[in-house]
Amino acid sequence: MSILDLAPVVPVVVIDRVETAVPLARALVAGGLPAIEVTLRTPCALEAIARIAAEVPDAVIGAGTVRTPADVTASAEAGARFLVSPGGTPALLEAMLGSGVPFLPGASTASEVMALAERGLTELKFFPAVPAGGIPYLKALAGPLPEVRFCPTGGIRPETAAEFLALPNVGCVGGTWLTPADALATGDYARVEKLAAEAAALRPSSRP
Ligand code: 3PG
Repeated sequence: MSILDLAPVVPVVVIDRVETAVPLARALVAGGLPAIEVTLRTPCALEAIARIAAEVPDAVIGAGTVRTPADVTASAEAGARFLVSPGGTPALLEAMLGSGVPFLPGASTASEVMALAERGLTELKFFPAVPAGGIPYLKALAGPLPEVRFCPTGGIRPETAAEFLALPNVGCVGGTWLTPADALATGDYARVEKLAAEAAALRPSSRP
């Protein structure tokens, strides 16, 4: 199954304290969002991925902010089941293709999308989604590049997610709003679960 079809929303998670990884993953899964992207932006990110992989079997744990071939190797070794990158350099793409792990490379221009499509990559992260042009931009890309589907991420909020999800070239959206820093700091996983449940319900009924 495609990464884009696992859930309507992929929580983009920044974990500062590794102890929060498992309870927050359980809360997201309980709310209906099994695909979770832990960003490699904090020192404990790989350990967080490993713990979630080991202890939350219903989660599909992924690594985000994957920027280098070393990130690819470390993420796969930690147990990441998918990889997400803000872009797609030649070296990174080689490493991702060689890893055997499903991945979403990032693109935000027509030429970047075309370069990735030339390599057979037609499921991409659209980043940074709102600053790069948001919904009108995605609609414009669908004309000449209808075979490419996206996970837009960057600037998407609960109020705008449904409008993104209604686009034919959007499979899912990503965002950090599911795991507010204050909820993680206070251990308010019930709030995380509630936010996840609201996001899981966003998929318009016209889509599978
Ligand atoms: C990302 O890290 O992929 C995005 O920057 C998340 O953006 P958001 O914080 O606007 O959801």
